[in-house]
Amino acid sequence: MKTNIIPFAIIAIVGIFAVVIVSSIGVSQRADIQNAEENGGETEEVTEEEASDPEALFANSCASCHGGDLTGGAGPDLTTVGASLSAEEIQDIIENGQGTMPPGLLQGQEANEVAAWLAEMK
Ligand code: HEC
Repeated sequence: MKTNIIPFAIIAIVGIFAVVIVSSIGVSQRADIQNAEENGGETEEVTEEEASDPEALFANSCASCHGGDLTGGAGPDLTTVGASLSAEEIQDIIENGQGTMPPGLLQGQEANEVAAWLAEMK
């Protein structure tokens, strides 16, 4: 009697392909998950959103001294600060402080965006 082994061979080959495909999908998904973890996942996106809203940054970090409407308080009035200081000078004050104003309230990109926004106040 001659056994027909071709159907079994096809099933075996299909099975091997299925295992290879499923495991390669698994490997690429694991790589995606690792990438997301290394980049700090979603936390980073949230920071970028905050950084693109200078008014919110000012309200959080600066309004306690300069007033929510920029008219000053413990710190000077900033409603016309753009007339006397450039964005670069304002960024320098934010990062390095000035007089009794503490340094480093905002850093880098955030300091840059708030400085650009304040430089428009003329
Ligand atoms: C702890 C209170 C305090 C906080 C918080 C504060 N400032 Fe000030 N700021 C001051 C004081 C006081 C001065 C005046 C410093 C001096 O010249 O003696 C000043 C000066 C400035 C000046 C210069 C104004 C000028 O006409 O010379 C700018 C611009 C400024 N602050 C921006 C900011 C920004 C932007 C933030 C938020 C990142 C901030 N400040 C947070 C107290 C503060």
